[in-house]
Amino acid sequence: MLARSASTPGMEDGPTSARRIVVSGGAGFIGSALVRLLVARGAQVVVLDDLSSGSRANLAPMLEAKDGVELFVGDAREREDWLHALAKPWHAVVHLASVVGVERVMADPQGCHASNTRGFDALCAALSAQGRSDGVWIASSSEVYDDHDGPLAEHAPLRRGRVGRDAYAASKLAGEDLVSRATGGRATALRFFNVVGPGQSAAQGMLLPRLVEAARAGEPLPVCGDGTAVRTFAAVDEVARCLAWLLLDAPTQPAGPLNIGGGASASVRAVAECVAARSGALPAVLGHLPPRHGETARRVPDLSRLAALGAPLPQASLERIVDELWMRHAAVDAATKERPCASLAS
Ligand SMILES: NC(=O)c1ccc[n+]([C@@H]2O[C@H](COP(=O)([O-])OP(=O)(O)OC[C@H]3O[C@@H](n4cnc5c(N)ncnc54)[C@H](O)[C@@H]3O)[C@@H](O)[C@H]2O)c1
Repeated sequence: MLARSASTPGMEDGPTSARRIVVSGGAGFIGSALVRLLVARGAQVVVLDDLSSGSRANLAPMLEAKDGVELFVGDAREREDWLHALAKPWHAVVHLASVVGVERVMADPQGCHASNTRGFDALCAALSAQGRSDGVWIASSSEVYDDHDGPLAEHAPLRRGRVGRDAYAASKLAGEDLVSRATGGRATALRFFNVVGPGQSAAQGMLLPRLVEAARAGEPLPVCGDGTAVRTFAAVDEVARCLAWLLLDAPTQPAGPLNIGGGASASVRAVAECVAARSGALPAVLGHLPPRHGETARRVPDLSRLAALGAPLPQASLERIVDELWMRHAAVDAATKERPCASLAS
């Protein structure tokens, strides 16, 4: 284990305002929500992002204010890019950059595995170059868990397949192992359950944005299989609040896997019905799609470990989550309709 010392590269002690946190994937959906909160708390944030699915726009007000956030457009699969992002003294590194979403994974499962694993490898190489093993947090996923009837605690059985969709889970488990070895078991693997909210792209194949987009277009709501699969949803702003608490307020860093999720569990069919109710188009018209290969029947987190730490748990109801998503889509639709008029007028 490394001793903390001022001469250790990338090392810094000090008040929150002097703390620098490096977030790979910080221009993405969860990342930008986290960055916003960290900056609001007075942290200095360095974002390492290749803008492949994230965007500058997600960080725009903070970048424009030139206060609190530095964006480094680079590749988290490259050690040198990590070393650049980690060059100034840092308090924590949060590795969120990843190939994300069923659509992208299924388009090239082995490519997804190789890409994500390279990211973890590059982070470990940079940590080793700096002689650091503390303050390391990585994004894993609830997809690492095998089918299980009850709530999934961190010690629940894991999926060990590597084919098709399982390649994503396998890449996250490989990352957990790699980073655990590189940090002597001190790193935290954040196993996110479905995180949802405004700003999430339907293009990645995530359930809720797809349902909302279909409902707004007056199309049947796409439901895979018989719709009985149960999922648990957490609002992204609450997940970000929980992460910011872990990074800035938790008395000690919880080592190993840590479930991060909400309390809004529902079957896919019930989620579709909730979206239909928000759209005012009841009964819901479901467009049944073939079941997705490798889907687990039930993914509900046991959040005991997170609760025992004293972290603020995500608590938003499904109705609140759907309502926020609906309002954001409505605002985007309205802005899109106004734009041609604005350009005609100019
Ligand atoms: N959203 C969820 O429900 C969920 C669930 C489980 C796990 N996760 C994990 O949480 C993390 C964040 O997911 P998200 O939903 O915010 O997705 P996202 O696609 O919005 O964010 C990923 C970010 O990483 C960036 N990125 C991708 N590859 C990169 C690379 N090689 N170098 C630098 N940047 C790169 C993208 O541009 C994007 O900004 C991911 O690791 C994902 O696997 C998310």
